[in-house]
This record gives sequence, structure tokens and C-alpha cells, in this order.
Amino acid sequence: MLQLPRVIGHRGAAAYSPENTLESFREARRRGATWVETDIKLTADGVPIVMHDESLKRTTGVDRLVAETPRAELPRGVPTFEEAIVCFGEEGLGCNVEIKPCPGREAETGRVVVETLRRCWPAQLPAPLLSSFKDESLAAAHRAAPEFARALLIGTIGDDWRARAEAVAAGGINTNGEKLTAVRAVEIRKAGYTLSVYTIDDGDVAKALIGMGVDCVITDAPDVILAALR
Ligand code: G3P
Ligand code: MG
Repeated sequence: MLQLPRVIGHRGAAAYSPENTLESFREARRRGATWVETDIKLTADGVPIVMHDESLKRTTGVDRLVAETPRAELPRGVPTFEEAIVCFGEEGLGCNVEIKPCPGREAETGRVVVETLRRCWPAQLPAPLLSSFKDESLAAAHRAAPEFARALLIGTIGDDWRARAEAVAAGGINTNGEKLTAVRAVEIRKAGYTLSVYTIDDGDVAKALIGMGVDCVITDAPDVILAALR
């Protein structure tokens, strides 16, 4: 079984600080999180950066696609994956690295993420967990670096979840906590997979999900969820 914390800060501590920034990761740590989740995609020139959307517009105001922007032209405040990893080392933070490829770059992004982890991940930190909605990204990560644990991200769990997880040798399922049914939770845990849910910011909902067998809650407000589960 994967070793996961009970609570992971989503995009850092997105309820309190601009998502997926170094400041947000530090804020998550200040609010008690020991791990954060972050989204990684490639710039036009193939540099892995921390960014959720395909466009820079929502978070930076710059109306341009990440896939068409070289690293040197990124707006200030958007960290590279390597800069984020340095921050995790300084803060002692574990990480759920979500591989969030730009369209058409699924396998390449999976490969670059694990190559970067091999080169840069600090030995003193807990081993990272890879996740992705893209089976192809996880398959490429598995081929290039099988030592990094993988979880398949699924919005709504269907009957094919196990076949998909086996195809990428995943040890966990990360899913939308609001759509998770008790039946699926039991099925996944009984099959020996870890089960994580996103994005849960309500303490009572988190408690109910843990009661259903969920291992880990991914949240924008790690302090709120940690207090509720204490
Ligand atoms: O990894 C959990 C969650 O981040 C998946 O959805 O869209 O917030 O990246 P999204
Ligand atoms: Mg994400």
C-alpha cells in the first residue's frame, strides 16, 4: 500500500493563497499540511511548470496558452517544477504530483515529470505520489521510472476503474469526493488500493468520507480539515 498522509493541501493552500505558487505551498505548511498537491504541465520549450489551466489567463491575467509560451516568457510568480521541488525540500513537504498535460503532450509530460523527480527530488522527503486523469501520462511515467508510485485520477468511478488502474500499475485511486459512493469506496479499499478524494473543504464531509474508508483528503483548506479530523 502507498504511504499517504490523511490530508493534502490542494494546489498548496488554495483557499488562502494564490494556487500553485511557492507562497501557497508555504501557506499549506504553516496551516499544518505535511503534503501538497500540485499540477504540472510543459511550456512550449518543454520545461515542466506548476500550472493548472491550459491558459495562463485565469491565474496570471496573461491571455496565452502554456503550450505556446516558452519558459523565458512566463509571467512572474509561476514556478517551474524544479523551483517547487526546492521549496518542498525547504519546507519538508511531501507532494502529490498531478501530471496535467497540455493536449497531445500526455506521454512526454509523464516522462519529463519522472525524469525531473529522479534528478531533483530530495532524499530526505517522503517519496512523491504521481497522479493523472490521463492514463497515457501514467503509463509513460511507469515505463520511464517505475519506482514512483502512481494513482489514477477518475472524476466519476465507472466499472472499468480496476482495469485502468492495473494497466498503469497504479496503487491508488484519487477521485471526486462528492461523487464517491460507499459501494465504490469499499470495492476500491478491498481490492487493496489507496483511496484519496478531492476537493473537500468541509470538515463534516471529510469525516464522513474517512468513515467510508477514504485514506486521504485533498483540500484547499488543510487547517480546517486537520482540525475536523483531530
Ligand atoms: O489531484 C486532485 C485534483 O487536483 C484534481 O483536479 O482539476 O483540481 O487538478 P484538479
Ligand atoms: Mg490537481
